[in-house]
Amino acid sequence: MVHPGLEEVAADEIRAELGGDVKRAERGFVVFRLPEIDRGILHLRTVEDVFLYAWGTDKLSYRAADLDSIRRWTDKDADWPALLKIHHAVTPKPRRKPTYRLVVQMSGEHGYRRVDALKALGRGLNGKMPASWRPAEENAAIEFWLSIHGATAICGLRLSDRTMRHRTYKVEHFQASLRPTMAAAMVRLADVKPQHVVLDPMCGAGTILAEAHLYARQQERPHVPWNVTLVGGDVDPHHVRAAKANLLKLTEAPVWTWDARRLPLEDASVDRIVCNLPFGKQLSSPAEIGPLYHKVVPEMDRVLRPRGKAALLVAEAPALKAAIHPLGWKQERYVPVRVLGQRAVIMVYRKP
Ligand SMILES: C[S@@+](CC[C@H](N)C(=O)[O-])C[C@H]1O[C@@H](n2cnc3c(N)ncnc32)[C@H](O)[C@@H]1O
Repeated sequence: MVHPGLEEVAADEIRAELGGDVKRAERGFVVFRLPEIDRGILHLRTVEDVFLYAWGTDKLSYRAADLDSIRRWTDKDADWPALLKIHHAVTPKPRRKPTYRLVVQMSGEHGYRRVDALKALGRGLNGKMPASWRPAEENAAIEFWLSIHGATAICGLRLSDRTMRHRTYKVEHFQASLRPTMAAAMVRLADVKPQHVVLDPMCGAGTILAEAHLYARQQERPHVPWNVTLVGGDVDPHHVRAAKANLLKLTEAPVWTWDARRLPLEDASVDRIVCNLPFGKQLSSPAEIGPLYHKVVPEMDRVLRPRGKAALLVAEAPALKAAIHPLGWKQERYVPVRVLGQRAVIMVYRKP
């Protein structure tokens, strides 16, 4: 399950890091097959959650007859003993009797309620678990999920827990702080390489810097260090403090209090800029966005090396394009996403 818009980036990560065979990537899901499943699957960084696939369909009728199909597919189409065996191998079995939970997510107009789909799932699972397993609402060891979106339903066993999407390093948050999976996607799109200097000039709580560090660690192989140098800063000293706290256990990246319109950095000194610029609604007036981008972007251009890349997340794409146009940067990717319910886009540029 991925944040909508990040399906292709996540599919690339699954192929590159796990050798996965991606079957489909759309509408918040990436369905893939692996030659072997182990805990490595939990180290994916651009996905929100991972599941073992039990069954799926694109042919829901939206009518109440779907409920019997859900029960039947759950009962007959999934190899639950095999799935539970893999689940236990990836997430060690608790010492006490396992607890389980059924979860149903639903979107679209269906002729039945979520609770009816939940009951149908429960009926399909009848007899699939040892009688000693107990239902639990909190911290269940095993979670059976059914996601229904329009005519599509996917049923699976959840392998990840909340730390996959929330990350344990993130102790400090603020409202405009980026979701770690989105920051990880931006870092992948920026195509960071060994020895690179990576800059986030408006780093907020430091999520992008943290994910750049973790990406470099994910890429390292024995005796092949990546030695990526991270540099960040923000105009708000509270955000700088938050970024330092979040990076504390990960790496010693310097984080400065600075104004991104006048960076204390040398010309052509960074290889990658990865940055989530303020959105109009985060400033006192959206009209301030244009002037801000017109000052920040030329400063980014000054510090970026020739052929360097910038991956920038903005809500006001036309304002960013207007600021970039005079510089002649080449647009390489355009990835629409939603951030805090608002339309936004990750744009990747290469400086000539
Ligand atoms: C959308 S937030 C960045 C969130 C960050 N990516 C995170 O995950 O926490 C935008 C940041 O830009 C900072 N900012 C706004 N104007 C700035 C300026 N002129 N120079 C540096 N930082 C600035 C804000 O303080 C805010 O932290």
